[in-house]
Amino acid sequence: MREKIEKLKQDAAKAIREKVANLGELNDIRVKYLGKKGELTAILRGMSQLSAEDRPKIGKIVNEARAQLEALIQEKNEQLKARELADKLSSERIDVTLPGRQRPLGHLHPLTLTLNRIKEIFLNMGFSVEEGPEIEKDYFNFEALNLPKDHPARDMQDSFYITEDILMRTQTSPVQARTMQSHEPNSPIRMIAPGRVYRRDDYDATHSPMFTQVEGLVIDKGISFADLKGTLETALRQIFNDKVGVRFRPSFFPFTEPSTEVDISCVMCHGEGCRVCKGTGWLEILGAGMVHPHVLEMSGYDPAKVSGFAFGLGVERIAMLSYGVDDLRLFYDNDVRFLRQF
Ligand code: PHE
Repeated sequence: MREKIEKLKQDAAKAIREKVANLGELNDIRVKYLGKKGELTAILRGMSQLSAEDRPKIGKIVNEARAQLEALIQEKNEQLKARELADKLSSERIDVTLPGRQRPLGHLHPLTLTLNRIKEIFLNMGFSVEEGPEIEKDYFNFEALNLPKDHPARDMQDSFYITEDILMRTQTSPVQARTMQSHEPNSPIRMIAPGRVYRRDDYDATHSPMFTQVEGLVIDKGISFADLKGTLETALRQIFNDKVGVRFRPSFFPFTEPSTEVDISCVMCHGEGCRVCKGTGWLEILGAGMVHPHVLEMSGYDPAKVSGFAFGLGVERIAMLSYGVDDLRLFYDNDVRFLRQF
């Protein structure tokens, strides 16, 4: 009996030390010897057949063997766990010496840069920045600007109508009427209103059905055409350069009287005449004029008490001329090779 127990113990110990490779196998061994139906357990069960004299001696040996095996299993269990953890740590190791991945940094779009510059120049002259909706009422886009329903000048700004009375605004000029109507009648205004406008148009090097304008409106007592000229010349010299030539030509807009179109000397040839200025030496840059008395009246201002001037300039055109971009579509195509250059 003694030998049998000793042999069982030796076999079990050998198996634990040499064969067991993982926690599952270790558990199998535990069950095989120490489990309910295990070999050592069976000996304990069979003790009733032993003589009263042998029983305590054998019982002691079995219990010792059991305790030794349990200790062995415990020890092996810890070894295996430690090894599994080490394996896991080494297989999942993060190499912190790898260089980091750089996220490409974006920057402002050239149109935004141009718009920011224009805003800054006018803010420095004491203008405020106003906003109006891109989906606009016919009333603000046309009627309140002296363009009644049947006015022929509407044809030049055919647009995208949402209903009979609502359209994508064709110009930023509706913000003129909106701003006047949100002010106390006859109170002074000095504002610009940048934003997108929409017209039924081609999409080519110089046209787009969507583009960006900056509207300007100044109203106060005694504002004259001299104020218009002085303000716009000052602004254009800052946008382009000190030496740029500025020319005012008579023109027509239903909401200004008199009206003018403003040219700058060609930024490519400096007035010599080239392809960009079509040989004239001048580039048309904005429309402007003295606010029509009827426009003032319609928005609650009294033309006998105050007067004003308004202007509208195209941001894409200014960006093209100041950066030397020869195709308008480049601003909208989102080609990073183009955009990276700004
Ligand atoms: N709204 C006009 C246009 O888009 C420009 C303009 C604005 C002219 C203000 C005069 C005064 O053509």
